[in-house]
Amino acid sequence: MWIKSINVHNCRILENVSLEFSPDLNIIRGLNASGKTSLLEALSILSTGRSFRSKQISSVITHNKKKLLVTAEICNSNGIQKIGIEKQNDQTKIRIDRKHIRSQAELSKYLPITIIDPDSVKLISGSPSLRRSYIDWIAFYIFPDFHYKWKTYQHILKQRNYCLKNKKYHSTLNKWTEELASLQPELTQYRQSAIEILKPLFKKISDHLLKGIEVDILYTTGFPSSLDINKDSLIEHYNKKLEQDIFLKRTSTGIHRADLKIMLNSQTAESVASRGQLKLLSIALLIAQSTALLQDTTTSEKGIILVDDLSSELDAKNERCLFDFLTTLKQQLIITGTRQADIKKNDSVKMFHVKHGVIKPCEITLK
Ligand SMILES: Nc1ncnc2c1ncn2[C@@H]1O[C@H](COP(=O)(O)OP(=O)(O)O)[C@@H](O)[C@H]1O
Ligand SMILES: [Mg+2]
Repeated sequence: MWIKSINVHNCRILENVSLEFSPDLNIIRGLNASGKTSLLEALSILSTGRSFRSKQISSVITHNKKKLLVTAEICNSNGIQKIGIEKQNDQTKIRIDRKHIRSQAELSKYLPITIIDPDSVKLISGSPSLRRSYIDWIAFYIFPDFHYKWKTYQHILKQRNYCLKNKKYHSTLNKWTEELASLQPELTQYRQSAIEILKPLFKKISDHLLKGIEVDILYTTGFPSSLDINKDSLIEHYNKKLEQDIFLKRTSTGIHRADLKIMLNSQTAESVASRGQLKLLSIALLIAQSTALLQDTTTSEKGIILVDDLSSELDAKNERCLFDFLTTLKQQLIITGTRQADIKKNDSVKMFHVKHGVIKPCEITLK
């Protein structure tokens, strides 16, 4: 699918913006603080319900305005559909073709967007929770059961942790342990299958971006590596760990502690890679994620990749290499901050200029 048009109201500096995108390449240019990232933020809110740079929606809504609204026309194999999201403090309203939708997950399924921004490197150097979300995002798209089971798991984990903290509920721990142990083998299987889909894509993309470097992804389950991930052995494991968990007041092992290790020439990337290599590896992971999401759809569907500040932390050669690679992907690209000289004049390229929150299409002029 691809985004045909978008309307943004009250997203930071963008008070009223309407744009028609190209299905292929869209370049957003403008000075610092003109509103380029705000446009990508609006798209991220439409896809995930959240901004990729702020936890609190109140800081994203334009000062002195009550609510933010993002609507878009999406082209997919069913034709054109209208989707929209309205955010007001803790209230969210979602619509697909004028029908109100309760869950953000439904909208996200509809509009899978991958965002590459200057913070993407945290996917490798940041906390494990980012890598778990990364792999869970793929599992969420590919395996219809994953989301419900994952949410159930979070609920049970919360209950078990609550009971670990309160002595009067210790008698209920067996029940929660059993429920926790029943869900984990399947959820682990989903994640491992997602990694199997991801791995060859990641290797291929890394080969383009970091020539001659051997990469790999290893999954750690959140349990000791010798443990078989089946219900009975997990229950036995939790029973052995019970005193420790009561002491710590939390469930110290489980799929909520899983992680991905990104390997570079058989060593962890974090310990050997340069900053520029880490950046390219994280971009390779994100492009691989975006490509993985398309695995089970028809070939006419495309994905959507947003890139904020393409040149950040990349030298001119790597930026060029990344840009050329992105344009071979046949996905819809919405890119801010690229050097104009890199763009070939072509019907499927649209360029926009942003100034003080006003975005207008502009001519592509070559150097
Ligand atoms: N809630 C808000 N309401 C209005 N303006 C905002 C809000 N948050 C940030 N801004 C302004 O938006 C601009 C930031 O835009 P941004 O999209 O980050 O620019 P760019 O990516 O082009 O550098 C800044 O001028 C900032 O002061
Ligand atoms: Mg910016």
